[in-house]
Amino acid sequence: METAEQLREETAHDLFTILGTHHVEFFVGNAKQAAYFYRRAFGFELFAYCGPETGVRDYVTYALRQNKIVFLLTTPLVSSHPASDCVLKHGDGVRDIALHVADAAQAYQITTSRGARGVAEPHTIEDENGKVTLATVATYGDTVHTFVQRDESFSGAFLPHFRATAKDDMAAPVGLKYVDHIVGNVGWDEMDKTVEFYNQVFGFSRFVSFDDKDISTQYSALRSTVVANENKWIKFPINEPAEGLRKSQIEEYITFNNGPGVQHVAMETGDIIQTIRQMRANGVEFLSTPAAYYEELKERVGAIQEDIDVLKELDILVDRDDKGYMLQLFTKPVQDRPTLFFEIIQRRGGESFGKGNFKALFESIEREQERRGNL
Ligand code: FE2
Repeated sequence: METAEQLREETAHDLFTILGTHHVEFFVGNAKQAAYFYRRAFGFELFAYCGPETGVRDYVTYALRQNKIVFLLTTPLVSSHPASDCVLKHGDGVRDIALHVADAAQAYQITTSRGARGVAEPHTIEDENGKVTLATVATYGDTVHTFVQRDESFSGAFLPHFRATAKDDMAAPVGLKYVDHIVGNVGWDEMDKTVEFYNQVFGFSRFVSFDDKDISTQYSALRSTVVANENKWIKFPINEPAEGLRKSQIEEYITFNNGPGVQHVAMETGDIIQTIRQMRANGVEFLSTPAAYYEELKERVGAIQEDIDVLKELDILVDRDDKGYMLQLFTKPVQDRPTLFFEIIQRRGGESFGKGNFKALFESIEREQERRGNL
């Protein structure tokens, strides 16, 4: 196991200017109902919409926002739309991790010349509010990265063809601020290849990696490597299953997602206790943590600002590294297939992904897997 410090030496050099995560687009079976869930349960605000009323004939998209996080929920209106195949094959899930770039055509040219498969060539879309240039390349499974280049003069609600929606009185923000990382699950022996892809094609470097000794329980194991861009705003952990006594949670995901895809989206909050309290009150289901976890917590992580009894009440996990500590908690899958879930994270200096929690966490996931008969 290399330390995060050693890996940090392997500095990434962005091959083109990435300004951050622009949005995360989900293909879902019923965007109208999914929008209600993310507004009511996760506190997102509906701010823009496109569909037949705005001149788009074959799909609808609801645009939701909480601080810097933008979710797009897209549902095809006709079976011939490509999203129909995706929903049929994968169920609801993440289709597009869209990156805000300075120059979409350049990003497309560089990534495709270095081995990425093009999905949509650079094209400019335009309405009365101005124009935006988009281009899309493929990554693992059916997941894609769209490069979004916004013209400074663009004055529309979100992107061309979207219209602003009325003030959202239902959404009560829960304090989610920005995307911290987005995790991909890939198949057996595909992790290194995927890490290599992000290194070659995007210039991302290996930030930290964990082998199956770090991430294993009595029953199942996985391996994980985190790739990151130069300023670490974009962090993509990539997981693959490893040999264990029983079925790895990654295998369960791959089975039900019908291939690789996004496992979880981690979102930063400035106050995890308040955020989790609100989300629980809103009906969001989180993984449980064994009581024994909190008995060893103080010894493992040392002094922390939070009251351990409150963390225990809310099932919040804590991990420390050489830079500080972090608090985290994972939702249960947000659809019936045991595929996509979310992580709520608060970093207090810590740069880790919760290595010290993996064992407690995965035992909790395995209890759920066992209930589904998939362990
Ligand atoms: Fe995570």
